[in-house]
This record gives sequence, C-alpha cells and structure tokens, in this order.
Amino acid sequence: MRFANKVVIVTGGASGIGEAAVRRFAAEGASVVVADIRPDALARVVGDLGRDRHHGVEVDMLDPAAIDRMIDATLDRFGRIDTLVNNAGMGSFGRVTEIDLEHWRQVMGIDVDAVFWASRQAIPHLSRVGGSIVNVASASGMAADYGFAAYNAAKAAVLNLTRAMAIDHAPEIRVNAVSPGLTATPLATGLTGNPVIMAAYEPVLAMKRPADPSEIAGAIAFLASDDASYVNGHNLVVDGGMTAHTGQPNFSRLLGGASHLADAQSAVRR
Ligand SMILES: NC(=O)c1ccc[n+]([C@@H]2O[C@H](COP(=O)([O-])OP(=O)(O)OC[C@H]3O[C@@H](n4cnc5c(N)ncnc54)[C@H](O)[C@@H]3O)[C@@H](O)[C@H]2O)c1
Repeated sequence: MRFANKVVIVTGGASGIGEAAVRRFAAEGASVVVADIRPDALARVVGDLGRDRHHGVEVDMLDPAAIDRMIDATLDRFGRIDTLVNNAGMGSFGRVTEIDLEHWRQVMGIDVDAVFWASRQAIPHLSRVGGSIVNVASASGMAADYGFAAYNAAKAAVLNLTRAMAIDHAPEIRVNAVSPGLTATPLATGLTGNPVIMAAYEPVLAMKRPADPSEIAGAIAFLASDDASYVNGHNLVVDGGMTAHTGQPNFSRLLGGASHLADAQSAVRR
C-alpha cells in the first residue's frame, strides 16, 4: 500500500489515462480527488470507488477560479495534498496555417496554462508534506508529428515546465512527467479506431499495439511513490519503443536479413 494515508488529485480523472491512474492510486490505498469537467463520468468513477474515501470535483481546467476551488475542496475534505497529477488535456489536429487563434489558445489553456496554475496553487501544500507532481505530457512533446502543431508545442512546454519546477522546488517536492505514446482511450479513438491509421502505425509501433491506460497509470504511480524518491525532473517515456526508432526504414524487412544486409554494404563499398 504505497499510498496509504496519502491524498492524490488527478485532473481529467473521469476517463482514459486519468481514470486508470485514479483506480491505481485508490487500489494502493490513497484517497483520490477525481477532478473532471464531465459530471456524469465523474459520478460514475467516484460512485464506483466509494465516496467514503474518495471525492469528486467538477472543474473546468480552463478556469483558474475553478482550479482554486478544486484545491480548496481537497483541503476541506482531507487537509493535505500529497500528489497532483496534471493529466487533463486535449488533442489537436492541424498545421499552423489550418488552426485559428481561438483553437490555439484553448489547447494551450488546457494543456499548459492549467498545468501551470494547478501546480502553482498546489506547490505550497505539497511542500508541507514532501509531495510530488506528475505531469502527463506526450511523446508528441519530444519531437514533431505531421499536422499536430499546437499539441506538439503544448506538450513540449509541459516537459520543460516539468524540468523548471523540478529544480526550482526541490528538495521540498519532486516534479516529473510521463510521456505516453498511442494509448487506447476515448481521446485517441480517432486514431485507434481507424484501420488505415493503425496500418500506418505498424512500422513504428514496436509493440504492435497501443498502450492500455493502466500501463501509463503504473508509470504515474511509480513517479508519485517513494520508489521514485530520488527521481526528479525526469520524463518517463511509456511509448512501447515508438520514439526509440530513428524513423529510418525497416532494413531487416526490406533487405531480408543479415546476409542481404552484408551484400548491400559491400555493394555500397564497391
Ligand atoms: N491517449 C493517447 O494516445 C495519449 C497519448 C499521449 C498523451 N496523452 C495525454 O494523456 C492525457 C489524458 O488523455 P486521455 O487519452 O486519457 O484522454 P480522455 O479524453 O480519455 O480523458 C481526458 C479527460 O480530461 C477531461 N477534460 C478535458 N477537458 C477538461 C477540462 N477543461 N477541465 C477538466 N477536465 C477536462 C475529460 O472530460 C476526460 O475525462 C492528456 O493530457 C493527453 O494529452 C494521451
């Protein structure tokens, strides 16, 4: 029970990766504050876990005053905050010339500003108990994707904000990030539910499947736990090896094995 007597806030906790993290923390003994914009989904998750030990807060992470109320509600109910998981986020399609300012600001608002403001408001309370922050960034924050401009920029900002907070606020707290690759959640159904897109993923998904949200939740829980007591400013990539690939073609497949590779190399030398 790594989180017995600990209080964990998970933003966007009513679906996907956030919900899996909520369930993981709860199973390991935490009291979890599930924060989400969707009251129906929120009621389902908190109702499932039990309102005696857990708490649901309806919050729009675009609204700083609502984030303040989320922090206050946590302190009113439990009196402390041990971990903040900044998970709520939105995806975004479009090249720079295809998205407007309103869309850009919405992506930055949920994916970056909310991480800044929730962290700012939680850090004094986390510092009192030696707590930690885990930011859910993305493999898309580590390099660029075709047609993901705002999302690429937002998640890259989350990664460097993670590092900045990690050095500024140590040793009182630790701040780390998890960068998932493709994960089977409602956010990603436009990708995982499209056979053409999944066929195009085939050469880059070494694991040959998207992650299950529970596999991201395990990494989030690790970073929040005492098992990671000296891990600070780290980006834990959970993408099944997707970003381990340079992007070059599959030589083994195209050249048909080691002997053909040797032939190709000697042909180049000639
Ligand atoms: N699914 C993937 O392939 C993938 C890959 C990399 C990173 N991520 C990141 O993981 C995080 C979680 O994504 P997911 O795939 O679980 O998505 P999801 O859509 O399943 O869950 C996101 C949750 O956030 C909530 N939310 C959205 N806007 C909100 C707001 N303004 N205020 C409060 N709550 C809000 C939603 O209601 C939902 O419950 C996001 O930050 C996303 O960018 C996802």
